[in-house]
Amino acid sequence: MAARNEPAELRAAEQSGRSRIQTPYLTGEDELERSLRPGRLAEFIGQEGTRAQLGLAIEAAIARGEALDHLLLAGPPGLGKTSLAQIVAAELEVPFVQTAGPALERKADVAAFLTALEPRSVFFVDEIHRLPRALEETFYPAMEDRRLPITVGQGAGARVVTLELPPFTLVGATTRAGLLTTPLRERFGIQARLEAYPAEELAQIVLRSAGILGVQIDGAGAAGIAARARGTPRVANRLLKRVRDFAEVRCPGVIGAQTAAAALDFLEVDQRGLDRLDREILQALCAKFGGGPVGLSTLAIAVGEEQETIEDVYEPYLLREGLIKRTPRGRVATAAAFSHLGLQAPAVAPSAPALF
Ligand SMILES: Nc1ncnc2c1ncn2[C@@H]1O[C@H](COP(=O)(O)OP(=O)(O)OP(=O)(O)O)[C@@H](O)[C@H]1O
Ligand SMILES: [Mg+2]
Repeated sequence: MAARNEPAELRAAEQSGRSRIQTPYLTGEDELERSLRPGRLAEFIGQEGTRAQLGLAIEAAIARGEALDHLLLAGPPGLGKTSLAQIVAAELEVPFVQTAGPALERKADVAAFLTALEPRSVFFVDEIHRLPRALEETFYPAMEDRRLPITVGQGAGARVVTLELPPFTLVGATTRAGLLTTPLRERFGIQARLEAYPAEELAQIVLRSAGILGVQIDGAGAAGIAARARGTPRVANRLLKRVRDFAEVRCPGVIGAQTAAAALDFLEVDQRGLDRLDREILQALCAKFGGGPVGLSTLAIAVGEEQETIEDVYEPYLLREGLIKRTPRGRVATAAAFSHLGLQAPAVAPSAPALF
């Protein structure tokens, strides 16, 4: 079924299979997420600065009839990078062609995409920091002068043929901007960093999503969900769906503050938005390792989770909330973490250096 609010180009691209995701790595997007994605810049809530800059650049590109400058979108998972990439294509009224860093293995993969682009298309490379290093150089001339030198033939008969590319906009998304090499990063004319959303904006997102899903919720109910959504629209939408389940079964009617709070308690999402794994991480750090420092790999084993998931999904929020700290020797729990778990913090802060 075609998702609501999606640009016609995107739907067409999806139907033709062009934007199909090619690796199991990226199959996480479900129908719900797609249906709730804002389709236009005006529907995208928050990130004022980024929205204004993008809006202006898009308007200028349209006025000149040119492709938009290459755009890098950085920020933690679930903040709207993919949504914005699709919005850029919708606003420019150009096709959206999608792939991901790990799906591009050989130069021929890149060439196949780039040479097939319609002029001014948006070429979206998700998780661009996972692009194989050897392929990065293929992008340099493509981004700069729309040239793609390829080697034809082998051995002594091999020669380099330079293909002309149509004008296009590369939109790269990354949760780890720091892993991009400087030459690649510098070739993006527009760079935007998405930040965690304040609770008021998340509440607006919850209300918008509730409208699309046909869930009855009032402002206080939305605020209750927003407060525990760790600054992340994807989490807010997920919680809304779970709260809806709870309300339908336990207390039908308009979801207010009380129902939202009862549902979230039931879901084991606490007042600070921590879920069970967050608390397990803190528990391991505080109780098992006396507050740390603990290496990330040890911590990952202790809670039975992938190191990368902890680093990308859990740790940023725990850091932002001031519950853990990163030190050169590993992760350290703060006094706030001990008190959140109802534990006594050690007399000397675990990260304090020895005084001799
Ligand atoms: N500003 C926003 N306004 C309304 N909804 C939003 C906004 N940002 C994100 N969302 C919602 O959150 C969901 C997740 O956003 P999106 O997939 O764009 O995040 P992402 O940054 O690409 O995440 P990942 O790094 O995991 O790929 C979207 O489906 C959308 O429903
Ligand atoms: Mg994404």
